[in-house]
Amino acid sequence: QWTTSSIVEDQVTRIREQIGDGRAICGLSGGVDSAVAAALVQRAIGDRLTCVFVDHGLLRAGERTQVERDFVAATGVNLVTVDARERFLDALADVTDPEQKRKIIGREFIRVFEQAERDLKAEGDYRFLVQGTLYPDVVESGGGEGTANIKSHHNVGGLPDDLQFELVEPLRLLFKDEVRRVGLELGLPETIVHRQPFPGPGLGIRIIGAVDQERLDTLRAADLIAREELTAAGLDRDIWQCPVVLLADVRSVGVQGDGRTYGHPVVLRPVSSEDAMTADWTRLPYDVLERISTRITNEVAEVNRVVLDVTSKPPGTIEWE
Ligand code: XMP
Repeated sequence: QWTTSSIVEDQVTRIREQIGDGRAICGLSGGVDSAVAAALVQRAIGDRLTCVFVDHGLLRAGERTQVERDFVAATGVNLVTVDARERFLDALADVTDPEQKRKIIGREFIRVFEQAERDLKAEGDYRFLVQGTLYPDVVESGGGEGTANIKSHHNVGGLPDDLQFELVEPLRLLFKDEVRRVGLELGLPETIVHRQPFPGPGLGIRIIGAVDQERLDTLRAADLIAREELTAAGLDRDIWQCPVVLLADVRSVGVQGDGRTYGHPVVLRPVSSEDAMTADWTRLPYDVLERISTRITNEVAEVNRVVLDVTSKPPGTIEWE
């Protein structure tokens, strides 16, 4: 039976054998898979690994810091952050169709990442690309089936690449729970190891309507409050994830103080699930819902109504787009 530390030792040996004295690049998404893959390769080849983190501006509050400060502190990894926020905003201007948004975000992401690869290749002999592919991804790719194809999933890890790289996939034989254990063994923070799923296209597909800076700021503020209150209530391990969705093209009348407001609703979408293929809406305690609602309407100026999504999957998907 494999123990976690023997998995780590074994992978470190294999990575060293594969990479030799070469150099490797790893894209970080903020998620657990790429973080653990990078940490393993870092353990094996040290500063001959360079990680690339693309800030596409569709991240949640604190996510960039979590990579730049916490992940770097835990691993000592070389990190290049590419600030591509304006580029993504420009590319997404006036786009409302969900699949169109996914395509644009995926396309821009690849362009930005490939440019970063070229820049690194100009500096040194980077011949290896690290990917956080898990065993279930290996099994699933080949035959797309069912709900997975209802939305074209853009995974920040899986990039077509015309630059010549050899892939390093140290998580290929592992399931998610093993990946988390390896992450903890490597000293990664809980916030990264137990992060709930967050889609590659980020907040871009949680704004119903066109994406712009102001709407992103509004959604980020509401999302942060929901996450803070769920964490404070100790519910993080009970829910699979809780998207907060901004209905940017909907307005409703409200009243605050003596004034009439005409603001936007946000939707809370807490779900319980085993694998995201099916999901049930989570029966959150009323007092938690009340705190989230009160804080969001008090603290986020553009939002005057908080509504709860009580649809299971199917028929609803987890994300609204
Ligand atoms: P749905 O909305 O299809 O979501 O029920 C199932 C799970 O997948 C995540 N999701 C995505 N992840 N790129 C991703 O990397 C995407 O385009 C995407 N769309 C949905 C969603 O957050 C949930 O965990």
